[in-house]
Amino acid sequence: MILLSGVAKTFRGRDGGEVQALTGIDLRVAPGEFVAIVGASGCGKSTLLRLVAGLVPVTLGRIEVDGSLVADPRADTAMVFQAPTLLPWADVLRNVTFPLRLMGRATRDTEDGARALLAKAGLAGFETKLPRELSGGMQQRVAICRALLQQPRVLLMDEPFGALDALTREEMSLELLRIWGETGAAVLFVTHSISEAVLLADRVVVMSPRPGRIADIVPVELPRPRDFAQEAHPAFHAAAQRIRATIYQRGAAHAA
Ligand SMILES: Nc1ncnc2c1ncn2[C@@H]1O[C@H](COP(=O)(O)OP(=O)(O)OP(=O)(O)O)[C@@H](O)[C@H]1O
Ligand SMILES: [Mg+2]
Repeated sequence: MILLSGVAKTFRGRDGGEVQALTGIDLRVAPGEFVAIVGASGCGKSTLLRLVAGLVPVTLGRIEVDGSLVADPRADTAMVFQAPTLLPWADVLRNVTFPLRLMGRATRDTEDGARALLAKAGLAGFETKLPRELSGGMQQRVAICRALLQQPRVLLMDEPFGALDALTREEMSLELLRIWGETGAAVLFVTHSISEAVLLADRVVVMSPRPGRIADIVPVELPRPRDFAQEAHPAFHAAAQRIRATIYQRGAAHAA
């Protein structure tokens, strides 16, 4: 379980000025729950994930994973960054298996698991390529495979499908849901797409900017397993409408 209470993050700029990126964040994510995060650019979504990943410290409040305080990166947490972050000198297969080998958790099945995930991500035959030989979208798929292979308890995904074309995006969404269903990880998934958030998540956190805060948390009452046909479901429209209303209201209030 992920628990955030009273979390705030202030960055101090090089000019001495301060940016209040997040304030008053309270959120509880159950084990195996899929939570999407949407909100305008700059409202602190990436910062929120980095805090939960233990990559940057909170300014105020506390973050716990399974009852222990997050202070550093944890072995049970994997993150997919907004831009792919692969090792340039290692081939695709070694990139995907790298975290497990680093943590001493690689077994004789690790390489087979990596090959199977790469095949599902449409990357069979690219195992021995270097990152620079792949397109941006392919690199991001490698980064997603790397995170999934760790079978993390907590999976943090920052706009993981942003660089993918619509078709690959849909395929990867369904594959993510399938793997998530098998591993039971708690997922925090940042996206700019309201329909993607609704289709994937149990709950959608809507954030508002300056300073970043939680404006609404919208439950999604769509049955699982999910598929794209559910975009026609009344519960899909209800959730998407409520999210849009919150974002629009906040935008209007801010502009006024
Ligand atoms: N390392 C940093 N140093 C200073 N300010 C930062 C740093 N990281 C983020 N910020 C500031 O914190 C705020 C939130 O940034 P963040 O990247 O979390 O937004 P975001 O919601 O992920 O935006 P986007 O949708 O564009 O990715 C912004 O005002 C940004 O300028
Ligand atoms: Mg971001």
